[in-house]
Amino acid sequence: MALITCENAALAYEGNTIVKGLNFSVNSGDYLCIVGENGSGKSTLMKVLLGLKSPAEGKILFGDGLTKSKIGYLPQQTAIQRDFPAFVREIVLSGFTGKSVFKPFFSKAEKQKAADIMQVLGIDTLAKRCYRELSGGQQQRVLLARAVCAAEQLLILDEPAAGLDPVVTQELYMLVSDLNKKENMTVIMVSHDIEQAVMYATHVLHIGETPLFFGTTQDYLQSDICRLFSGKGGQSS
Ligand SMILES: Nc1ncnc2c1ncn2[C@@H]1O[C@H](COP(=O)(O)OP(=O)(O)O)[C@@H](O)[C@H]1O
Ligand SMILES: [Mg+2]
Repeated sequence: MALITCENAALAYEGNTIVKGLNFSVNSGDYLCIVGENGSGKSTLMKVLLGLKSPAEGKILFGDGLTKSKIGYLPQQTAIQRDFPAFVREIVLSGFTGKSVFKPFFSKAEKQKAADIMQVLGIDTLAKRCYRELSGGQQQRVLLARAVCAAEQLLILDEPAAGLDPVVTQELYMLVSDLNKKENMTVIMVSHDIEQAVMYATHVLHIGETPLFFGTTQDYLQSDICRLFSGKGGQSS
């Protein structure tokens, strides 16, 4: 069975349907990129996958032993979260608890993994700094490190490149791609930057008003919907 199966799902707020007829599956080791214009329902779909919101119709099924506690999640950033009063290292380590920010003890392996991820993301020197004092790009990397620590089986990233400069964005995409390829981490990444984001993905889900697309990246790149939205076929997003 697939890690995640989405069967004929519809997403709605207070009876207003955003998107319907969503059918796709994510297998272990896949890297699914979800694209679509602002307001098309990408973030809402992530909340539905995480069980934070129910689909208005249809079903989301977990397989392969996947549970919520094995998912690392980087939510799309909001202004409120930028004022969070905690130290960087605590926030990164809290990825291992899945619940509260302060857990008294972490294993040696957990501390090592947190240190490694922080180094890769270039935030190791910020470990003892207070999160609220960091720049937007630094904060984003801290939350990404936390999500990577939390991800045992699945990493869900909602617009992870928001607020990052082009160099750090490239590094982030490479890190996620390495996690996917070398550690067989299953990845779901939301982005509105189609051309950049799909470069590393194995599969693409394009949501919006019809038509929708779900399939391999190879098929997507040859599809009309890709040409239309990447700006190569006239109308751009
Ligand atoms: N909490 C909410 N209550 C009501 N409507 C919402 C809420 N969150 C999002 N929406 C609406 O649902 C639609 C999809 O939003 P969202 O999933 O955030 O889109 P995306 O992530 O693709 O930009 C938008 O029209 C948005 O205004
Ligand atoms: Mg969003």
